Amino acid sequence: MKISVIGLGKLGFPMAKFLKKFNFEVSAYDINQKLCEELKINDKTYLSSEVGINKYKKKIKIFNSIQECLLNTDITYVTVPTPSLRSGKFSNKLLLNVLDNICTFIKAKSKKQPHIININSTVSPGSFEEELIPFMEKKGLINDIDFSFIYNPYFVALGNVFKNLESPDYILLGYSSNQALSKIKLIYRKIYKKPILKPMSLKEAVLVKLLVNCYITSKISFTNFVKKLTDKNGLTSAEVVLEAIGSDKRIGNHYFKQGGPFSGPCFPRDNLALINFCKSMNLNHLIPKTTNKINISTYSDMFNILKFFKRNKFKKIGFLGISYKPNTDDITESVALKLMQESKKLGMRVFYYDNYVNKNIKSFKRYKNLNTLIKHVEILFISYLDKKNNKINFRKISKTIIWDIFEFTKNKNIKKFSNIYQLKKLLKDK
Ligand SMILES: NC(=O)c1ccc[n+]([C@@H]2O[C@H](COP(=O)([O-])OP(=O)(O)OC[C@H]3O[C@@H](n4cnc5c(N)ncnc54)[C@H](O)[C@@H]3O)[C@@H](O)[C@H]2O)c1
Repeated sequence: MKISVIGLGKLGFPMAKFLKKFNFEVSAYDINQKLCEELKINDKTYLSSEVGINKYKKKIKIFNSIQECLLNTDITYVTVPTPSLRSGKFSNKLLLNVLDNICTFIKAKSKKQPHIININSTVSPGSFEEELIPFMEKKGLINDIDFSFIYNPYFVALGNVFKNLESPDYILLGYSSNQALSKIKLIYRKIYKKPILKPMSLKEAVLVKLLVNCYITSKISFTNFVKKLTDKNGLTSAEVVLEAIGSDKRIGNHYFKQGGPFSGPCFPRDNLALINFCKSMNLNHLIPKTTNKINISTYSDMFNILKFFKRNKFKKIGFLGISYKPNTDDITESVALKLMQESKKLGMRVFYYDNYVNKNIKSFKRYKNLNTLIKHVEILFISYLDKKNNKINFRKISKTIIWDIFEFTKNKNIKKFSNIYQLKKLLKDK
């Protein structure tokens, strides 16, 4: 089966490489011509912080024209952005641009069997029925005769995309035609020994993608609620309490540790898209709304810590990591970046060190060396749990106060805090 992959970003490129590994004939295209040219010459440095990318050595065939890329393929994976609109709904504008090209291709081809369009981008409920299928029909094509949609979003975390593709919990397959479903099943049966496939209607699959992220974010917000309780108590530890709660098999310890707000390119916006959908249906949306409110209040608590620093005449704050998690340079909705912006607004000087983000972020001073950063700042915020940080000898840092929301540093001899109460005590004891 010949597969075309359109959109070679953080998700599309790994997927194209992954499919190629299993000997599918893969052709790929991205509207970003510079990226295409770079990938044609050398694809080894692109997304290089993705864990395990080096194992995927086979090069994919990249085309500068979408029509050439689509030629002779049976199925197209579409992985282009679906940016959030102000309402929270996702925009299908870029998807429609790709579909327009797919229509031209379908009309020109001689082989008259439905071309399968596998949408991997996240879409809002109603997108297939109200926008994507009508768009194709307006072009004179017939659903499930000329084309068939599959909705197949991946549950991947940036940095671990290959690992998540290699061992997914299950594969979500929204479909409307049995023929298209059979074909996509062939792909996944070739890749995995015993794939757990979850076929369902397109409408159901769109909801599953959003509801999974809504559930995970509600777990994270629950941990932040627990942390508020334990912090206020003073002598109780969120870590101990959450570990015990999560050991109940009905709950589980995944995404259930003390930490900060949920962040990144998917969680916050998927939650907002769900709220928008519920509102459009006049439905109670207390769960995603409350989850979101707790997230906002978790940020407020952190901003209050910054204000406390300001009142106590601290001037220099440093951040260890500015992306939203390790092994990626994605800074979308990153906790560190929001705190950096807030610190700056308060008039503090902001510095950072990052293992994964190459580009410099305006307004903040980057240090190329962590030790230099630590020497220059009064407070150091640890942005995420990262194995690379295990090597840091925090004992050497005599003066710097470590803001450790994950309670990552176990050493009792260093100056550290994870909440305002600990911070106040720390400064009083000084
Ligand atoms: N990144 C994630 O962790 C993740 C996880 C699950 C779902 N998603 C969803 O996947 C989609 C893509 O996300 P991403 O992170 O890969 O985005 P990205 O911005 O990293 O990559 C998208 C790529 O699509 C290209 N593109 C844009 N318009 C195009 C067009 N008309 N034709 C061809 N190429 C085009 C861009 O140049 C870019 O290279 C989004 O809907 C996102 O919500 C992402």
